Amino acid sequence: MIDDPIIASQTPAEDFTIRQVWDAYTEEEHGVWDTLYERQSELLKGRTTHEFLDGLKKLSLSEGGIPNLDDLNPKLEALTGWKVVMVPHLVPDDVFFDHLANRRFPAGRFIRKADQLDYLQEPDIFHDIFGHVPLLTQPIFADYMEAYGKGGLRALEYNGLKNLARLYWYTVEFGLIKTPEGLRHYGAGIVSSFGEAQYSLESPSPHRIDFDLMRVMQTDYKIDDYQDVYFVIDSFEQLFEATQQDFAPLYDQLSKVSEAYTPQTILKTDSVLQKGTLEYSQSKSA
Ligand code: PHE
Ligand code: FE
Repeated sequence: MIDDPIIASQTPAEDFTIRQVWDAYTEEEHGVWDTLYERQSELLKGRTTHEFLDGLKKLSLSEGGIPNLDDLNPKLEALTGWKVVMVPHLVPDDVFFDHLANRRFPAGRFIRKADQLDYLQEPDIFHDIFGHVPLLTQPIFADYMEAYGKGGLRALEYNGLKNLARLYWYTVEFGLIKTPEGLRHYGAGIVSSFGEAQYSLESPSPHRIDFDLMRVMQTDYKIDDYQDVYFVIDSFEQLFEATQQDFAPLYDQLSKVSEAYTPQTILKTDSVLQKGTLEYSQSKSA
């Protein structure tokens, strides 16, 4: 449970937003941001995309302490029309999608404690802002996220939520991308994690498979540990193009196949970049 008096003291608006009350963050909380920022931005060089690092710079998220939305939002809005709104905790699906569809990214207010730098049960402001917001400065990714929000509202109508959530997981949260300099990550769950930012690229354990929309929408995921499979896109353009089509017939088709693939599965039809040893997850379950 998150114990944050500023959150507890507010009644959220109808769209679940609250005020950040930046002045109320303690020195210790700002210190946690600074520690995480320094450690992570160093680690990301050569591991994440230049688009992400460029966004980080443009937003000056390094200026010391937890970002103040009053400073961050004008910069982000000028670049792509996106802004960050504060929410108390995870919000209902329709509310979340509606924010994205209108270029508002919902971020949690609280920050992890100094003794939990590596392990988090719920996304905090470091994951939400450091992880997600830099790529929202890039027009193509900004467009993808808005389209995803609109797609989410449609998925609720067409009973496709589970399929669409897997797409979010394997792209927005845990996506890898090919670049001229080699494999990089762009997913916020990886980019904001000290351990997974290394594991996802360097460990022999996970599978790395070329992105395929229908394949991804049928693949289960683990929410409490490093992934056993990553899907790799060629470019943000490829991802955007692949998701431009109407998903209603896809959901219909998917509703006829009952079982989802486990993350450990490799299919004959997969274009496999690297078959993982799965040693990491097997050592855990042993
Ligand atoms: N094109 C999808 C639909 O028709 C919406 C979507 C866009 C989904 C981008 C995911 C990402 O529902
Ligand atoms: Fe996230």
